Amino acid sequence: MPVSFKVAHEIREDETEPKLIDLVDRLRDHIVFPGRRILYTWIGGTRRDWRGQGHFRALTEQQEMWAIAQGFDEVVVKTKNRFYEMRGTLDHLRFEVVKYRTPSRHNAESKVYLSKKLVPELLGRHRSARTVVQATI
Ligand SMILES: CC(C)(COP(=O)(O)OP(=O)(O)OC[C@H]1O[C@@H](n2cnc3c(N)ncnc32)[C@H](O)[C@@H]1OP(=O)(O)O)[C@@H](O)C(=O)NCCC(=O)NCCS
Repeated sequence: MPVSFKVAHEIREDETEPKLIDLVDRLRDHIVFPGRRILYTWIGGTRRDWRGQGHFRALTEQQEMWAIAQGFDEVVVKTKNRFYEMRGTLDHLRFEVVKYRTPSRHNAESKVYLSKKLVPELLGRHRSARTVVQATI
């Protein structure tokens, strides 16, 4: 059974889709785009009854290994102040907050943007045991 997932895509400075243009505009002062490849993790999670067993760490470490091999320089993710489990997990996975955006009202809805620089030394700090099977679509 698939228990954990992540969906990611590249974001470039010259996006043409309105939502991505908006995202790049929000990040522009916090992430260096020119001459670098940025991977944006759009969504991710682990099924409730499978949490706390290292699945998300394993996925994240595999994503980092893949991203470095593809030539990405940085991975960026957005969450909300009230997504406490995700914030705690991203903290354990050593993501750094690069931007905090407060809406006009409820602070719990504030958006938190985090990133991690994809330097090769990172791979030596990976801890998960995993077997990778590539699916063909
Ligand atoms: C966040 C989430 C993906 C973690 O998945 P998981 O498979 O349980 O995570 P892992 O077991 O791989 O844990 C990874 C690390 O995060 C830590 N962690 C996991 N859950 C945590 C929590 N609730 N609070 C603090 N730290 C947590 C673990 O201790 C681990 O750190 P370690 O390896 O240094 O010990 C899962 O709880 C989830 O899907 N939550 C809901 C997602 C959500 O809020 N989505 C909203 C959109 S952002």
